[in-house]
Amino acid sequence: MDTGLKGKRVLVTGASSGLGAAAALALAAEGAELVINSRDRGKLEATASKIESATGVKPALAVGDLADQSQRVKVILAAREQVREGVLDVLVSNTGGPPPGAFLDHSGEAWNNADKLLLDSAIGLTRAFLPGMLEQSWGRLIYITSIAVLQPVDELILSNTYRAAVTGFCKTVSNTYAGRGITANCVCPGYTATERLVNLARSRAEQAGSTAEQVLKDMAAEIPAGRIGKPEELASLIVFLAGDTGAYITGTSTPVDGGLYKGLL
Ligand SMILES: NC(=O)c1ccc[n+]([C@@H]2O[C@H](COP(=O)([O-])OP(=O)(O)OC[C@H]3O[C@@H](n4cnc5c(N)ncnc54)[C@H](OP(=O)(O)O)[C@@H]3O)[C@@H](O)[C@H]2O)c1
Repeated sequence: MDTGLKGKRVLVTGASSGLGAAAALALAAEGAELVINSRDRGKLEATASKIESATGVKPALAVGDLADQSQRVKVILAAREQVREGVLDVLVSNTGGPPPGAFLDHSGEAWNNADKLLLDSAIGLTRAFLPGMLEQSWGRLIYITSIAVLQPVDELILSNTYRAAVTGFCKTVSNTYAGRGITANCVCPGYTATERLVNLARSRAEQAGSTAEQVLKDMAAEIPAGRIGKPEELASLIVFLAGDTGAYITGTSTPVDGGLYKGLL
């Protein structure tokens, strides 16, 4: 299937590992012109080398912490400098997740940090890149959220709260700009094998006096597909939405979760 992504200018944030790295690799495999972001230059360079060896596409780097407004501005400028005409065709907005815990476990500062990490970053990136997309009447905005927006996860109140806000933001942007060649969608990973999942399993194991391995087994048993997801399985959906293939899909939040979400819609 031709996704039409060859030569499209793409920024994937939070892309040195996990879901962001898998999305970047899959988009590069389609021939996209790629900029990748994360906070750690060393990790990002290592990921860029892997992508180049696998696909022949050499990603440009835009290093910085998207939860920090001044660093986010630098990331945006670096991305603009490294793509043709300073305009993106596709934005994949992603960062790490906030810490687990129940409501009273989190200080006011932790709430503010999660707001900056999940919501401010998504809004800031969209504010920076949507105008260029509108000028060319073509753009794809893709936000990595979580199954937590469909079915909140008890010990992830920070994630449940701010990802729901990102979902409302995305849906509104989608409604406003769908007639001008822009699509905006959220993709919602269930339990997917990344560093983040291992950390979550460790935290659950500590609470339950169990081991991370056992927690991961219990998670897999909860999933109708009977296994944890692979990052490339989320990346396939991102590629589909990013390409010409996704032209008539907008305002959606789609789980990639092996059936974990049990609701009808
Ligand atoms: N894996 C799952 O099962 C799952 C399920 C539902 C939702 N999610 C969510 O999906 C997102 C990606 O998950 P993941 O599993 O890929 O997480 P991950 O393995 O922790 O990877 C996160 C990536 O984001 C980068 N990053 C973290 N904070 C950043 C920041 N402030 N600014 C820029 N880059 C940042 C990290 O690189 P550096 O350290 O180099 O910055 C890394 O490349 C997270 O928000 C996570 O909560 C994951």
